[in-house]
Amino acid sequence: MAGKIVVLTGAGISAESGLGTFRDEGGLWAQHRIEDVATPEGFARDPALVHRFYNARRIQAAEALPNAAHEALARLQRDWPGEVVIVTQNVDGLHEKAGATAIHMHGELSSALCYRCGHRWPSPPEMAPGEPCPACHARAGRPDIVWFGEMPYHMDEIADHLQTCDLFASIGTSGQVYPAAGFVQEAAYAGARTIELNLSDSEISRAFEDHRVGPASRVVPQWVAELLA
Ligand code: OAD
Repeated sequence: MAGKIVVLTGAGISAESGLGTFRDEGGLWAQHRIEDVATPEGFARDPALVHRFYNARRIQAAEALPNAAHEALARLQRDWPGEVVIVTQNVDGLHEKAGATAIHMHGELSSALCYRCGHRWPSPPEMAPGEPCPACHARAGRPDIVWFGEMPYHMDEIADHLQTCDLFASIGTSGQVYPAAGFVQEAAYAGARTIELNLSDSEISRAFEDHRVGPASRVVPQWVAELLA
């Protein structure tokens, strides 16, 4: 049966591309304080520190290659007879490098945002405090990343997709950050089947009907092959 599939991805799908996750042992949030590098208050206090953090991640992401899981999702999006919507919390651009399109609810490293006028432009590889906005010329450029305390992007569009999907899959996310952690419930209320693909149980595993446990590069291609068979 062809239907609409919504796939939510998190840092775990990019782990095997060499990009660190946030909450696994030794992850980014063990090395950096969230309040210093991922809040508007942290940016106001020390923009140079925040830019250094995202510059390093931007360089790493630019060098990273998609893995078999990103490629399998791109294949699913191309070959599934219904609609496949990928919603990602990741800011790395690996879905696009694999040939897929994705809704970036937490922003993108490749984009810069003016906090004065809201204009967006392609980020330079390295940003610095006082980055000028090409539209209003205010020295108000920041990474186009959704920080804690800010509203994730595209929430209305995502809610529409969740309410109309037949299958909801969550891949490589710990289920600790809302609103993404609540998507499984929204999809289930709307009547969708739900499946979680993760290296281990997450905070919200019990909310899913079906589970595939293992590294994304193995379990995602298997799952996609079953769907397309
Ligand atoms: P986390 O670091 O919280 O969780 C990563 C998840 O991936 C965990 O559940 C791991 O078990 C799983 N995982 C690790 N390696 C894997 C692999 N090879 N294959 C499959 N799964 C694997 O990352 P997120 O859930 O994405 O937000 O974090 C959500 C948000 O919190 C991020 O978007 C970020 C962060 O703070 C912002 O920065 C706004």
